[in-house]
Amino acid sequence: MRIDIATLFPEMCEAVLGESILGRARKNNLVTVCCHNIRDYTLDRHNRVDDSPYGGGKGMVMQADPIFRCYEAVCELSGDKPHVIYLSPQGRVLTQQIAVEYSRMEHLFLLCGHYEGIDERIIEEIVDEEVSIGDYVLTGGELPALVLADSVIRLCDGVLSGSECFEQESHYNGLLEYPQYTRPEEWHGKRVPDVLLSGHHANIESWRMEQSLKRTETKRPDMFQEFQRRNSDKC
Ligand code: ADE
Repeated sequence: MRIDIATLFPEMCEAVLGESILGRARKNNLVTVCCHNIRDYTLDRHNRVDDSPYGGGKGMVMQADPIFRCYEAVCELSGDKPHVIYLSPQGRVLTQQIAVEYSRMEHLFLLCGHYEGIDERIIEEIVDEEVSIGDYVLTGGELPALVLADSVIRLCDGVLSGSECFEQESHYNGLLEYPQYTRPEEWHGKRVPDVLLSGHHANIESWRMEQSLKRTETKRPDMFQEFQRRNSDKC
């Protein structure tokens, strides 16, 4: 998997992508992630990337041309055409299922906008889809791009070790994860549930399933209904 991020703030992206599990995945060549400064693709001597909107109005709009040149450079460098995602509050909202979909793709190009937006013509020209990370507005597309990249990279083969695996966690099977405990057995008068200390694997499994169902029903009734609907379809 290869991910290219086109941004005006590559250092901000690199700071996150160099740490922890993502940093390890890159170091081990399990994924290639490159951050590109859109400003490097300007042709004028002031390295201008934005201008005022036609028709008037507040703020600045990012120009199409530097973004296009950046996209072309990535196509040439990689020798293929990436799936282009523009991070925008107008896009479809990212879910675990969408992250899984992207993790099966060879090459993503994440475009981060700023200011009042980007020239509509670059969206028409290169963008395959717009993705939002939720119904709220951020100052730019960098944090959303990093959220998307994180959710995708951790699903790629070999990135998570056995002990970090994602099959057990919230959202993977449409349910929230069961509660977890570690040492000590008693803390502030609260004991770890006996079943977890019993060593009886089948009982532990069914306790965890029961807890997952209960939690999902209480915390995310929308997910619980969907889980029930999908499971009744299977019968
Ligand atoms: N850019 C600004 N806000 C955003 C959001 N919620 N999701 C994706 N990109 C954005």
